[in-house]
Amino acid sequence: MLTVAVLISGTGSNLRALLEAAEDPDYPARIVVVGADREADGLAHAEDFGIPSFTVPYAHFATREEWGAELAAQLRVWRPDLVVLSGLMRLLPAELVDEWSPNIINTHPAYLPEFPGAHGVRDALAAGAAQTGASVIVVDNGVDSGPIVAQERVPVLAGDDEHTLHERIKPVERRLLIDVVRRIAVGELDLTSP
Ligand code: GAR
Repeated sequence: MLTVAVLISGTGSNLRALLEAAEDPDYPARIVVVGADREADGLAHAEDFGIPSFTVPYAHFATREEWGAELAAQLRVWRPDLVVLSGLMRLLPAELVDEWSPNIINTHPAYLPEFPGAHGVRDALAAGAAQTGASVIVVDNGVDSGPIVAQERVPVLAGDDEHTLHERIKPVERRLLIDVVRRIAVGELDLTSP
């Protein structure tokens, strides 16, 4: 059974989908802890499912490195096989990424390498793209620049705004994430050579 820590910043709808998937006894992964960089609404999903959670508030630390060191210490307590960034809206310090690499993945609401960064949906709309997408990548020390392990196109429709487009992307992200975690767990996907 693959053990997973999920890190979030926001509503955690993708986290919830993974928690629901992991309720299936046949799903080969279990979420052991949920962490956040703020008092994120999504922590309520962990509580709903009886999963422990922790918060390491970014605002309480003088530097990204100090914040990352505390986050790394929390993760070490749980010793997950895999760390999933599911809407964590912070760049992680290199020390943390290097400690978990390659067993650390991220979901992104665009078809990478198109539209990396914190505003993938907004940037696709601003560029007038006819299609965008969802991606799951291995985290490296760049911004959404790691190896792509799964991705799928999503059309941009006339009249879309950031909210409607993001809400159309998220179900695709959820499906990709649940499948990527499953493939890692059963050995179909080797993150050392994705
Ligand atoms: C997701 O779309 C995720 O890909 C995105 O934040 C959203 C979180 O939604 N992450 C990024 O943009 C990271 N660059 P959720 O909190 O409802 O799961």
